[in-house]
Amino acid sequence: MKNIDWSTLGFHYTEPDYIVRSACHDGKWEEPYATQDKYLHLHVSATCLQYGQEAFEGLKAFRGVDGKIRIFRWRDNAKRMAKSAEGLFMKAVPEELFGRAIRLALKKNIDFVPPYGTGATLYFRPLLIGTTPRLGVGPGHDFEFIIIPSPIGPYYPGKFHCTTFIVNRYVDRAAPYGTGQFKVGGNYASSFRATEAAHAMGMDCIFLDARYHTYIDECSAANFIGIKKPSAISHQNSEIEYLTPRSSAILPSITNDSLMTLARERGYKVTRRRIRLEELAQMSEAAACGTACVISPIDQVIDSERNKIYSFGAEPGPVLTELYRALQDIQYGRAEDKHGWCEVFSI
Ligand SMILES: Cc1ncc(COP(=O)(O)O)c(C=O)c1O
Repeated sequence: MKNIDWSTLGFHYTEPDYIVRSACHDGKWEEPYATQDKYLHLHVSATCLQYGQEAFEGLKAFRGVDGKIRIFRWRDNAKRMAKSAEGLFMKAVPEELFGRAIRLALKKNIDFVPPYGTGATLYFRPLLIGTTPRLGVGPGHDFEFIIIPSPIGPYYPGKFHCTTFIVNRYVDRAAPYGTGQFKVGGNYASSFRATEAAHAMGMDCIFLDARYHTYIDECSAANFIGIKKPSAISHQNSEIEYLTPRSSAILPSITNDSLMTLARERGYKVTRRRIRLEELAQMSEAAACGTACVISPIDQVIDSERNKIYSFGAEPGPVLTELYRALQDIQYGRAEDKHGWCEVFSI
């Protein structure tokens, strides 16, 4: 194992020993191979540079309590990347090739898988780019698929804590039937003006739907979850509602999908529908969710233009804390993986 201080890593790039690459020409993908060369020899007119023809993914491998390494739901990332490819007129990476590339990246960087108990993980950034040189506007027909592994630190180095979000109405991340449902670089570049302004204030930002600026779309680079529950002290799980936005402009989060499954298993009512911003006032807990953080609980949402603050308490709420632990237990091999979400890696 590498001599790294895993607990101080943060969500930053640490140079791995190898990346994995595979090129596609004439519609055929070459077998993925590992290389130590982290640079591309790319034509200056490549469609990824000229027209943003690129997509990416993000997934993790966890070292479990039993010492085994588990790759979490990589097939779902492969399927989502295929949808992004279709959305940007690129050749999809076949699912099995995606899997072989991830396993090879893990095998060649096995010493970068952090030890159990540190909260750190090995993150994989699959990247798909258009490499055909073009000046006339249009898609290319050559592609490169790359896996960039990097160990990342625990999202919560201290304890599971809350973040404050600010409502943004001056930057639209993605149009209703645009590219918001795909994981493509342009969505992130277009959101930087809003996210960086929020970060400068020590917060993160909530994007509203671009057409009406009325419904919650996403939380920066994460889906939104709200919990509604009866005010009476004694209540049944079926009275607790897990709410998450339905929108054609948001990324279908694999973490959110996993949490919805775990919520249903516990008897909670799970609803995916349009959520008006004002509905936050009826929620007892709220959070952002995604691969990086699993769940990032929200203490407050500030709507400065409307002079409103929605508060959910300074500490993470019980329902979201329970779901966070339940998902981490599966990822770290502490609970049975009933849904077959983890692939146990063997060399
Ligand atoms: C815009 C956006 N929404 C949601 C998510 C969460 O998706 P996942 O849970 O698959 O990581 C991400 C992160 O990948 C994201 O970038």
